[in-house]
Order: sequence, then C-alpha cells, then structure tokens
Amino acid sequence: MSLPTSLNQSLVERLEFVHQHLPTPPGLVVEGRLVRMVGMTLEVVGTYAPIGGRCKVLHPGGEAVIAEVVGFNNDRLFLMPVGETHGLAPNARVIPLSGGVKIDVGFSMLGRVIDGRGQPLDGKGGLVADGAVSLAGTRINPLHRQPITKPLDVGVKAINALLTLGQGQRLGLMAGTGVGKSVLLGMMTRYTSADIVVVGLIGERGREVNDFVRHNLGVEGLKRAVVVATPADDPPLMRMHGAMLATAIAEYFRDQGLNVLLLMDSLTRFAQAQREIALAIGEPPASKGYPPSVFAKLPQLVERAGNGREGSGSITAIYTVLAEGDDQSDPVVDSARGVLDGHIVLSRAIADSGRYPAIDIESSISRVMIELISKEQYAKAQLFKKLYSLYQQNQDLISVGAYRRGANPEVDAAIAKHPQLMAFLSQSIDERFDFTQSLMALNKALA
Ligand SMILES: Nc1ncnc2c1ncn2[C@@H]1O[C@H](COP(=O)(O)OP(=O)(O)OP(=O)(O)O)[C@@H](O)[C@H]1O
Ligand SMILES: [Mg+2]
Repeated sequence: MSLPTSLNQSLVERLEFVHQHLPTPPGLVVEGRLVRMVGMTLEVVGTYAPIGGRCKVLHPGGEAVIAEVVGFNNDRLFLMPVGETHGLAPNARVIPLSGGVKIDVGFSMLGRVIDGRGQPLDGKGGLVADGAVSLAGTRINPLHRQPITKPLDVGVKAINALLTLGQGQRLGLMAGTGVGKSVLLGMMTRYTSADIVVVGLIGERGREVNDFVRHNLGVEGLKRAVVVATPADDPPLMRMHGAMLATAIAEYFRDQGLNVLLLMDSLTRFAQAQREIALAIGEPPASKGYPPSVFAKLPQLVERAGNGREGSGSITAIYTVLAEGDDQSDPVVDSARGVLDGHIVLSRAIADSGRYPAIDIESSISRVMIELISKEQYAKAQLFKKLYSLYQQNQDLISVGAYRRGANPEVDAAIAKHPQLMAFLSQSIDERFDFTQSLMALNKALA
C-alpha cells in the first residue's frame, strides 16, 4: 500500500485514501480549517469527511462545536452545526470524528423528555443505556417486513370504528393550526393499546412542549411515553435529528418485540428544516420554495416506521402535516399523501362548530382498514360515511326547510340518523373508547 502522490489526484482523493487506510492513529487525522461561515453553513477546507459525518470545530476558550457534513463542492466541505455556534472564529481547527452517529437508548427513557441529542430536558437525572442505535436507522428489506394484519386501538371511537388503524400503518394527520392536533395526539397517547408511545415534537413553539407534556399527556400518559423535543429555536439540523431520533427510539422498542405508536408533530417542520439546510448550501428551490432533496428526505424518514421483521414488533406512525386552508397543492401535503398509508383530516369548520375531535370523515381515509376488520363492520363504516355525506350534500336544503320528507328515502334516513351520527363523532378529552366500545357505539349510532 502506498500513498498516491500523483499531481493529478485531487486533494479529496488523497484525503479519502488516508481516511480509508490510515484512520486510526490520532496523529494522522487531517485537520481542516474553517474558512467561511454564511448563515448557519460552515465552509471547511483541508480535511475529509463523508456526508453525514461529524466534525469537531474547536475555538479558543470555548467548548467545541459539533457540526455535520451536509454537502461539498470540490475540496470544500459544507457543515451545519448541531448545537450553539457562539464564539466560532475564522480559521478555527476542524477535526473529523470517526464513526456514525450513535445514540444511547433504553427503557429508562420511558417517562422522560429528551432533546435531539438524546439528552434529558426534564432535570430528572441521567438515563441508563441498554444499547446504542444509529440515528439514521437500518434499512429493512420491504419483503422481510411483516404485513399489516392487526388493528391498533387508539382509544378514539371515530378513528377506531371508521378509520381503523393497523399495527405498522403510517398515517398523516392533516390540519391547519389550532384545530385540535395536539389534543388528539395526547388522547391517543393516553388511551392507545400500544405498549409504548414515542412522541416527536419537531420545530413547534417552545412553550408548546411544556404544554403538551403537562396537559395533553399528563402524568399517566407520560409513564409509557418518550418525548423528543426540538423546538423551533433549535438549529435546523437538530430539528431533523429530533425526528430521526424519535424514529430511532421507536425502532429500538420495535426490535424488542413491542408495539410502538410513533407520533410526530410535525412532518412539515421536518421538511422545513431540510429546506433551510438545502437552500443554505445552494440547492435551488423547485416546488413552492422547497428544494428536491426535501422530497427525498420525507420518504426516508417515513419508510423507517412500519412493521419489523418476523419476531419483532411494530411502529404505527402518525405524522401531523400542516395544511392551512385545505391547501391541497402544498407540496409537503402532496408528498405526504403519496408516501403514507392514509390520512386523517381535521377541519377548521368542524372545530369552529364546536365538534371535537374535528375529524372530517369524508376527506379521511385509512388505506389498510378493509384488511383489518370484518366485512360486516366495514359495511357499517361505509354506511355511516354514506349517511353522513348525504346529509352534508343536502344540508343547505335541509337547513332552510326546502327539503320535503319522502322525496328521497336515503336522505330521509340520513336526516333521521344525523343527531346520532354527530354524537358518535364527538368525544371529550377525558373519555376513552376501546376497540370493542367503539364498534358498539357505531352499531348504536346506526341502529
Ligand atoms: N377533543 C376536544 N374537546 C374539546 N376541545 C378541544 C378538543 N380538541 C381540541 N380542543 C380545543 O381546541 C384548542 C386547540 O387544540 P390544539 O392545541 O390541540 O390544536 P393544534 O392543532 O395542536 O394547534 P397548533 O397548531 O397551535 O399546535 C384546544 O385548546 C381546545 O380548546
Ligand atoms: Mg399543537
């Protein structure tokens, strides 16, 4: 083995050679220099690290800043800081760190609130690790995944009975702001039959984290939950890591044979974090300001949820997607619809009318439902949706008294049943309906 010295060889090639063949002795790690910083992007020359690799940026008198390689241009690496950048100065030394990003995980995480690095935020002391997992996860051959065959009880009757979720299903919760996403996620965390709930609070307001943990989860909900919080003021890379970490923790518990419910609020903020990073390193925007890499990252994240190999458990995942004013053309909404196995739409008009959870039954769909419940039950759910839709379509006529009873027997039935259907769709925050109770309530509403 000899070190290539040809003048034609680029610095990158030579450094790559060093990296591959001589990585261990610390004296041989090639240090780089910080030459430019624009916004949150650090430009480094003189060293080599692969995409996703980490570097330590040293600065005199301060703690080292950890940064991750997000792009390169010839010999120049683009890095994004994972934490604070205060105190960085020109020409700072940059030392590549070996190995991928591993995060300690374990059952001591239950009941805890942690940040995107896996560090506790709740001041309840350190965590005991049972193992370490890769932030990026490991791919499962799609043919080795268990199919979705069993329903998951989420404790909300409208979802259990009309939009039945399967263990290992991935679903979008599409809604605008303030229509009850957090309350609904909190209810599912408290009432689900899943063994463990992992909640990722990504890029939301910092105040909301506390609110969600105290009010929506409560002491009971938190007991078997892990909350990963990376609020809006965290650097974009940290916000992305928060989503990846929540997924990695869910993967860990799934691989222990447990059924995990992963709730991510929100996928839109994850996409926006990737947009910030991609734009900062010069990727051109394509769709409504989103560069193409955003739409590559979404499926990469979402595909990690789902059922595991034979013998492991499942990750049922619900990702909230911000859809203001029912904007179907929003590229994140569009892309999410494509990669998920169904969506629940929360409607502002329904929330404004005071019915909670404000699930728009007509626009929501669970693509795997038909395989999870009996034919009779499925027929009942279809009948419910039909009666509900008929009423909605004729609502204008009905409300002004222009509809004459007897004109259409189906509409007559829809009008007669309407109060029961509405009552079925409402559920107060402190009420739980398990799977059997949900089906019984549906039967009663249609009786
Ligand atoms: N099941 C419910 N029963 C009664 N009220 C509810 C219910 N769900 C939501 N609400 C009301 O709606 C308000 C907003 O709900 P929530 O905070 O969950 O919305 P959000 O979609 O998470 O908002 P944001 O976009 O700001 O995060 C709550 O403060 C509450 O008053
Ligand atoms: Mg919320």
